Amino acid sequence: MCGIIGYIGNRNAIDVLMHGLKRVEYRGYDSAGISIIENNKLVTIKKSGKLTELYKVISHSNHFSNIGFGHTRWATHGEPNDINAHPHLDNSGKISIVHNGIIENCAILKDLLLKQGYTFKSETDTEVLAVYIGSIYEKTKDLTEATRLALSNIVGTFGLLVISEYEPDKIVGARRGSPLVLGIGQNEYILASDQTAIVDYTKRVIYPDDDEMVIVTKDNYILKTLDNIEINKKESTIDLELKQLEKKGFEHFMLKEIFEQGETIENATRGRMIFDTGNIKLGGLTEVTDKLRKARRIILTGCGTSWHSALVGEYMIESLAGIPVEVEYASEFRYRNPILSEEDIVIAISQSGETADTLEAIREAKRKGCTTLGIVNIVGSSIARATDAGVYLHAGPEIGVASTKAFTSQITILLLLALYLGRMNNISQMDGIRIVNEIKLLPKKINTILQQAPSIQKIAKQYANSPNFLYLGRGYNYPIALEGALKLKEISYVHAEGYPAAEMKHGPLALIDENMPVVVLATKDDIFDKLCSNIEEVKARKGKIIAIATEGNTGNKVLEDKAEHIIYIPETSNIITPILSIIPLQLLAYYIALERGTEIDTPRHLAKSVTVE
Ligand code: F6R
Repeated sequence: MCGIIGYIGNRNAIDVLMHGLKRVEYRGYDSAGISIIENNKLVTIKKSGKLTELYKVISHSNHFSNIGFGHTRWATHGEPNDINAHPHLDNSGKISIVHNGIIENCAILKDLLLKQGYTFKSETDTEVLAVYIGSIYEKTKDLTEATRLALSNIVGTFGLLVISEYEPDKIVGARRGSPLVLGIGQNEYILASDQTAIVDYTKRVIYPDDDEMVIVTKDNYILKTLDNIEINKKESTIDLELKQLEKKGFEHFMLKEIFEQGETIENATRGRMIFDTGNIKLGGLTEVTDKLRKARRIILTGCGTSWHSALVGEYMIESLAGIPVEVEYASEFRYRNPILSEEDIVIAISQSGETADTLEAIREAKRKGCTTLGIVNIVGSSIARATDAGVYLHAGPEIGVASTKAFTSQITILLLLALYLGRMNNISQMDGIRIVNEIKLLPKKINTILQQAPSIQKIAKQYANSPNFLYLGRGYNYPIALEGALKLKEISYVHAEGYPAAEMKHGPLALIDENMPVVVLATKDDIFDKLCSNIEEVKARKGKIIAIATEGNTGNKVLEDKAEHIIYIPETSNIITPILSIIPLQLLAYYIALERGTEIDTPRHLAKSVTVE
């Protein structure tokens, strides 16, 4: 979850570290800190709170160094305070580490170290690792070897950097289950949890894999396994432009990302639709075409918003391709010994490509012989590399913690995949052509919805103080109700629940009174009339209806009579509707949060990339 950055080169490391921490702040923001080596002495500065608190301290200091690292934390062990903030030191105070991940056997190790007379200042698992590395260094007098031996006894996950005044010209890095990328610049190296912290300096990168270490000096780097075997790895190039990391005049990254969706859908579909045959071309799947043709079952897995995409994908694939689909929370799938066969295709959906549970779900599926695919945004991420094949979203970096543009790109890719499989099976050329032509119109339609932002903001103002919201939808809009409620919860801290509309009378109806705003996805489809009955049920209990409706639907008369507010989306076919119907809900959540004055891009307790279980 945490963000880490290390630097060695000729620049002032402090500038690079602070800039890099800003870039990775969205991974965790409850405290931050840096360690540098200045005149052969280790200097560590850390502070609880957002990065700005650390800035205040550092801007009053006069340090200079060419080597160091920084960390921005999302607490796992120990509350966010100055002491628990990273970096953590060994007992000599000469070795410093930053760590992303969880040391699962830290209680046993701590006990062992306490018995040997070592002491601890914080409640963190990371300090246990720092002290452990220090204890081994006393015997080996070799930083790389001490780190390697310590990590060989670790149960858990780590993206780790180590520096020491004992060996002041070196950064030792290692990873297992948490990301770490090595950026190769001109006489300088950057190590980071995230390529966004590297791209300012270089686009040349190496991705160490699990249980690998990287030892970096000013002029060189060595890669080796935790078994002490030196290895070579091919360089990759970061597919990211600096301008993609800017807000471009928007007040928040989230709003910018909502407004980018016309463009990101175009990027997700570019070159992938063949208009005269209604076929889909997904280059990343070429090698597994045969396996896909023979697929008996597809399992879609992910977490949070990506899990909601999977729910939409289930409807799309079953409807277009006629292949049975199951949707699994990655965190459940990986631990419940799922029954899988070699004819099963397991597809991981993930914006970051680093979510620990999703990555492990894929590994479990591989162990059981399934073909694994990734629908991932970040090129070169762990899930992208762990899967047999996949399709990238090409949505550009998503910085707002609440996922928006990645969600619509994920369901667009799932639609392309459904059509790709459908055209292999039972979808006619005519139907294929009709669907690709409708997808082509999406960017324009999305922009029509975005133009309604001011009127959605007015609705948001009216309901910003409501303590509870209900979101209802049926069919393709049921997952959208879940996603709309999640968006509101995470950025405005308002309790919200999403439900399949017909389920309401089995319990949640009891919640409805004149104070309950109910957001109803009432778009044109063949169960519109049934949904209207659900609206009647809410109205009879005096609930306030905010409806999302399709422009020009003759049934809208009912909504006009019953709903307090109607937000219209352009007409499209049922299967494409969710790509449009989520957009007003993203805007509604954004403007309610804006009204409530929350930290929209960095909501409390959350982080962008969940690399712990
Ligand atoms: C919600 C949100 C999270 C993520 C989830 C999975 O807005 O962003 O629920 O969707 O943590 O993350 P990825 O997609 O990176 O695997």
